[in-house]
Amino acid sequence: MSGKHFYVTTPIYYANDKPHIGHAYTTLLADVLARYHRLLGYEVFFLTGTDEHGQKVEQAARKRGVSPEEHVDEYHRRFKDLWQRLGIEYDYFIRTTDKDHISFVQKCLQELYDRGEIVLREYEGWYSVSEERFFQEDELVDGKDPIGHKPVEWISEKNYFFLMSKYREALIEHIEKHPDFILPQTRKNEVLGFLRQPLGDLCISRPRARLAWGIPLPFDADFVTYVWFDALLNYESAVVQRSYKDGTPLWPATYHLLGKDILTTHCVYWPTMLLALGHALPCHIFAHGWWLSQGAKQSKSSGNAVDPLGYMDLYGVDTVRYFLLRDMVPGQDASFSDEQFKERINSDLANDLGNALQRVHVFLARSLDGKVPRPPANAGTAEEALRAFTEDSIRKVMDLITSLRLSPALEAVAEMVRQVNRYLEKRAPWQVVRDPERKEELNTILYTAAEALRCALILLGPVMPAKVATGLAMLGVKTQPTLLDLAWGGLPSGAPVEPGGPLFPRIQSEAKKEESPAPDVLPAAQLDLRAGRIVEVDDHPSADKLYVLRVDLGSETRTIVAGLKAFRPEDLIERTCVAVANLKAARLRGVESHGMLLAVSLASGPELLSPGDAKPGAELSFQGVVRQPEKRLTVETLQAAKLEVRSGRVTGNGCDLLSGGKPVLFDAPDGTEVR
Ligand code: MSP
Repeated sequence: MSGKHFYVTTPIYYANDKPHIGHAYTTLLADVLARYHRLLGYEVFFLTGTDEHGQKVEQAARKRGVSPEEHVDEYHRRFKDLWQRLGIEYDYFIRTTDKDHISFVQKCLQELYDRGEIVLREYEGWYSVSEERFFQEDELVDGKDPIGHKPVEWISEKNYFFLMSKYREALIEHIEKHPDFILPQTRKNEVLGFLRQPLGDLCISRPRARLAWGIPLPFDADFVTYVWFDALLNYESAVVQRSYKDGTPLWPATYHLLGKDILTTHCVYWPTMLLALGHALPCHIFAHGWWLSQGAKQSKSSGNAVDPLGYMDLYGVDTVRYFLLRDMVPGQDASFSDEQFKERINSDLANDLGNALQRVHVFLARSLDGKVPRPPANAGTAEEALRAFTEDSIRKVMDLITSLRLSPALEAVAEMVRQVNRYLEKRAPWQVVRDPERKEELNTILYTAAEALRCALILLGPVMPAKVATGLAMLGVKTQPTLLDLAWGGLPSGAPVEPGGPLFPRIQSEAKKEESPAPDVLPAAQLDLRAGRIVEVDDHPSADKLYVLRVDLGSETRTIVAGLKAFRPEDLIERTCVAVANLKAARLRGVESHGMLLAVSLASGPELLSPGDAKPGAELSFQGVVRQPEKRLTVETLQAAKLEVRSGRVTGNGCDLLSGGKPVLFDAPDGTEVR
């Protein structure tokens, strides 16, 4: 392999059913690796496709009462459509019913037959339709096939055999000489273990009388080709006519990606076929684990398969892409559950990345005239530390990506983002912004945070292309560098930031819903919060500690009794505030109060919450929470909404309070109550 060439493949999927998350994962892994390698300056070719011959497909067609041709023409589209929805950018989609593929397979068969590598033999054995292969007696488990645990049948027939056993030693030698040929190492050991046993020859034909749907053997019209012999050759047939720009042929593939279920076919059948043909072997075969659901491998037959489309419809393509790559550690199994999905998206994307981005964006938009700041004249230690951390992380992430360790790579990016949030906590721009003398400092903080976020976003580009483009635009970045040019200092000073709302709305989790007193609606959703303006302040006739306020709520002016005696009336008049407009009316020492103003309780006394620029009457809401105001809200529900400050923002049930789409900020320690 030349240093800057990258040819990656996925298994070709059986065109007999609906694709599920397992299929989506391998294809996504290939897509993301292809995108990363393109950004690293490689010339990339990414192949995927469908496996359209064989008994499984023939049976699926028969069940539907259509011809196999009609069936595959229709069913291969399900994969193409899903790949389009999932943002998969493959270079070529191969179908094993393609004319070029068929003639390539026949050419290879003829060549091997002519050289005596394929011979006719009488054969008897246990045949599994679902696995489409024979098993030895001692391989069966409880009389069933050891992989899918499906019934097997005893078959005795003449068949053609590829003399695979001849290549056992050569294959072992190749694996030992090339420690990265089979990855991860555990899979390599598994294959070596398998090869320590005697290796049989491979039956590569099926009598036409039993199975008609296959590629005819060029030297015997009574037989068709065994589906695996046909399918494996797709990796080469798709590229025999292609070369890289410098004339180097595309074959051999840099990486074959697959699930561990098809390890033997890829690591034993395929390389021995290539050895017999005298063709080069692929550089790396990488087998990932399984997506489990309810503890079992996801598959159509187990009935536990997750439909990726449903998740994409609900939460967007990019979050699904992120979850799948983040939650499967390469080589190990991973489980998919609704709760895990929501937790991951809420923690990494809504809380960390989304919040950091929104915070910085809001400051740039509001306090720096909507423009990207200048690089700081003198960066302090906190700035230097964030820069050093970011630069180290960029190097680390690139190494992880090129060794296919995408989950740890994404974990490293998530840590970069958490560092930005910590930096913001420490430098508290929400305090600095209040002092016009500290404008330079605000510039420094925002530049540093935005630049660190720019680097993190660019590293996430191949995983979440659309979200990253929007996120970067919110920081004023329109052109994205390649990963080779990614270095600190690329933020385009002076460029306008594009408007953008919260990028990753928090997903409401079922568990949280159950905690709340009203099981269907989150308490925070039941609040009718509105911007108000205090227009009159009177002393309460019979309570020293209370004022009777008149508050303009747009369409009406309300009487609200409030314990705000810490303020002088002239400090309150004309102030904007946030009112709970649907609180059940209550008589307070003889005066009826129709609502309540929200204040943060600080040690120094209460501080009124401000709705920003919102006009009286404007509704406030919580991020990701649909407003469902209760008619007569009780104090209990208000308390259950748990209004408090978190990371410099006002939150209800953990979700950010938004005014005019922007978070309501408040500089107070985490957990400070709002009431
Ligand atoms: N047609 C053969 C492959 C021929 S390649 C020359 C085949 N097709 S398949 O439709 O069954 O797809 C198998 C592949 O789908 C697995 O190797 C893996 O890439 C993916 N997955 C299917 N189920 C999976 C999980 N539950 N988890 C992870 N990936 C799995 O075998």
